[in-house]
Amino acid sequence: MPQSQRIGILTSGGDCPGLNAIIRAVIKCATHKGWEVFGIPYGTQGFIDLELGQCTPEDLRLNEHGYDVPGLLRGLDILQFLSGSVLGALNKGNPSDPAIAQEILQGYQHLGLEALIAIGGDGSLDIIDDLAQKGEWRWVAIPKTIDNDVPYTEISLGFDTAVNTVTRSLYDLTFTAASHDRIMVVQVMGRDAGHLALHAGIAGGADVILMPELTPCLSESVIDQVCRQIAQLRQGGRRFALVVIAEGVCRPEWQKDSCICEYLAQQIQVQSQRLCASGDPQFCTLQEVDTRATVLGHIQRSGTPSAFDRLLAARFGREAVDLIAAQNYNRLVVWDHGEVTSKPLDQVMPYIKQSHREGRCPDPVDPQGRLVQTARELGIYVGE
Ligand code: F6P
Repeated sequence: MPQSQRIGILTSGGDCPGLNAIIRAVIKCATHKGWEVFGIPYGTQGFIDLELGQCTPEDLRLNEHGYDVPGLLRGLDILQFLSGSVLGALNKGNPSDPAIAQEILQGYQHLGLEALIAIGGDGSLDIIDDLAQKGEWRWVAIPKTIDNDVPYTEISLGFDTAVNTVTRSLYDLTFTAASHDRIMVVQVMGRDAGHLALHAGIAGGADVILMPELTPCLSESVIDQVCRQIAQLRQGGRRFALVVIAEGVCRPEWQKDSCICEYLAQQIQVQSQRLCASGDPQFCTLQEVDTRATVLGHIQRSGTPSAFDRLLAARFGREAVDLIAAQNYNRLVVWDHGEVTSKPLDQVMPYIKQSHREGRCPDPVDPQGRLVQTARELGIYVGE
């Protein structure tokens, strides 16, 4: 086991709550071993900056320290409480351009790292894996994303906090919905996956949850079923409803729409009027259906990390450092049945790359899974 190590850490892809908590955990665990830690700014862009002389290795050194909080809180290490990434993160650009890749590889060499810890989602880990193969890097990957769509791990960092944020927003929207007898249509992030919509929808008391895995597009029949669900609620005396839609759900012509909730809100009104006009008594309650659309947006990537995400950060960070200490490189740290463990990247990455080539989500919601069944049994419409 090496006595001294010089390791790098970077955050790549979109930010999420808990990144700073992982950075803190890695700094603490590594410096306790007497290692040097270097924080690479803005993902792999930091290697380019280093190569171009825009920063020096010393600028990137991370020491264990408190932050300069005044008064009696002096020395408090606030990193684990803050969302975002103190290192910065980039989710644009692909260093497939050989000249750019070369600069990154040279920057890496310049820093003289023995190993790298890269915290990313499926997209950025795919990019870093290509670079790592070219540069023969020894690295450990840590999954993070509010979309929770990194395969081989049951949970990625940031997901739990995002579920809590959306759940809280649904709670808040419930009372204005109820006061105005309104149907609130709420658009939730997740890219091509419905995990965030499904988890938060159940926890937040949604009446309808639409996810790309079960309702890939807003066909007439899906909208009809949503209206029937509203009619049924009204027959039972409930005048308001919460409809959650994951951003990955398309328009009927399979077109993506960055404001798909607005389209759904309009269509619910149109179809309710149609059903009401049919004269069928079960739809007479749909006479006045008032809808409003809310895009929750980037607020879902923010907020102080939940206790679970802070614990996950601590455990993921420690596992990554332990893997490097054991010279057990090229692994993805994962959460598996309540435990932290790791998988070889040569098993994980081919699967991720294949799903990217085929344009599918690497870890979608299982339409036959327990959570979908639970939603159905709770009376939530989730598609057929
Ligand atoms: O992957 C995380 C995520 O927040 C997705 O849920 C969302 O579709 C996307 O990133 C938004 O990306 P940007 O920050 O570039 O708008």
